[in-house]
Amino acid sequence: MTTLLHVACYNDLKAWTKKHRRRLLVAAGVVGAGVGTYYFVNSMRARAKAREEREERQSAILRKEAEDRAEAQLQSHFESIQRISDSTTLPSVLPHLKTRLFELVNLSGLTEKLMSGKEDPQILSPREKLQLWQELKILSFTRTVCAMWSVTLLDLFIRTQLNILGRHVYIDTARDMSVVKPGELYKPLSMSCQHKFIAFADYLPHKGIDGLIRDVHTSVESIMKSKPLKEPYRIADLRDVFLQIQQSFQKSQGNWVQYVLPEDGLLPEDLAAASSAADAARSSTSDSSLADDEEKLEQLMFETRNVLISNEFADVLASALDAVLEAVLEDLSTIYRGNLDAGIPLAKLLPPVASTGSTLMEHPDDNRYIQILAQLPQVQSFCALVYSSSTGEDVELE
Ligand SMILES: *[C@@H]1O[C@H](CO)[C@@H](O)[C@H](O)[C@H]1NC(C)=O
Repeated sequence: MTTLLHVACYNDLKAWTKKHRRRLLVAAGVVGAGVGTYYFVNSMRARAKAREEREERQSAILRKEAEDRAEAQLQSHFESIQRISDSTTLPSVLPHLKTRLFELVNLSGLTEKLMSGKEDPQILSPREKLQLWQELKILSFTRTVCAMWSVTLLDLFIRTQLNILGRHVYIDTARDMSVVKPGELYKPLSMSCQHKFIAFADYLPHKGIDGLIRDVHTSVESIMKSKPLKEPYRIADLRDVFLQIQQSFQKSQGNWVQYVLPEDGLLPEDLAAASSAADAARSSTSDSSLADDEEKLEQLMFETRNVLISNEFADVLASALDAVLEAVLEDLSTIYRGNLDAGIPLAKLLPPVASTGSTLMEHPDDNRYIQILAQLPQVQSFCALVYSSSTGEDVELE
């Protein structure tokens, strides 16, 4: 399975390598064209057909070796980007996501009231008690469905960003080492531009999550309101409930890009401040490089938006959400103690459902869900596609 996947991604990269052969040869530190010319000139002089053929073969071997090196280098660059996503970027933004979600969908007040009602039956009237349980039902599912969506969206968004950035940086490196033609003014992506771009990963955890919670809450309410707390649920019924909520949510929301990116394309000032503060420290930026940065940032954002609204993104999101749901159900199945056809009353399922929301947002190192996403074939080929896609690249290179 893994090998197959590897081959799928590798083939995507291979196609790209073929297309950008010359640039990549240069990137590998080998001036492939130069090697060719040398042998060509040489063979013209010698005019010995046999020798020419031999040299052509040698040249071909050299080229092949250089290409293989370039391919290997590209592959390892690509792999390092996927590791950065899991080990650096995601861990830095996931805690904010969790804090914000748990702040906005706070169950502790409800559970405390219900507990005290249990200790002292005088405190709550039956009607109040039912009211609290109803609320707990809605909020437990809201929090977990939000966790499923936001973690998946954030994971895929960061992967999209890093792979777009990775491609640009790689091409920059290749170009930097190539012979710069006279009059060609060439500036690679500045650090400050890269930081400003990456800062957009903060949007969902700090701002976008509010809208996501509001919309998921509406859907959960419409599906769950009429479901009796005493009704027994088998694991298959639970899956149905999650799918119903998901369907209702997907039908009601306009598009999910609104949760991931600000509508006007501008990062709110408090979020943008962090990345500009880092730059101010090392700043010796002139006005022209600022304008250059702005143009490049716009290009990166343009590409990101294009990926987010593409069918490929919609497909990978759907597959990722399916995988996350199956993992959630797998976790929940432990409370059935192997008897998945036994029913458990909905009320009893609420605490485990709610706590799954918390498990989803653990640190990526201990987060099974993040690992499942990283290993998902669809996610891997999606990343290879974004990394190797030439969308907008030629525009940028003109
Ligand atoms: C949830 O609300 C309780 C009060 O009802 C508060 O003490 C607690 O800090 C809140 N938790 C979060 C994560 O905001």
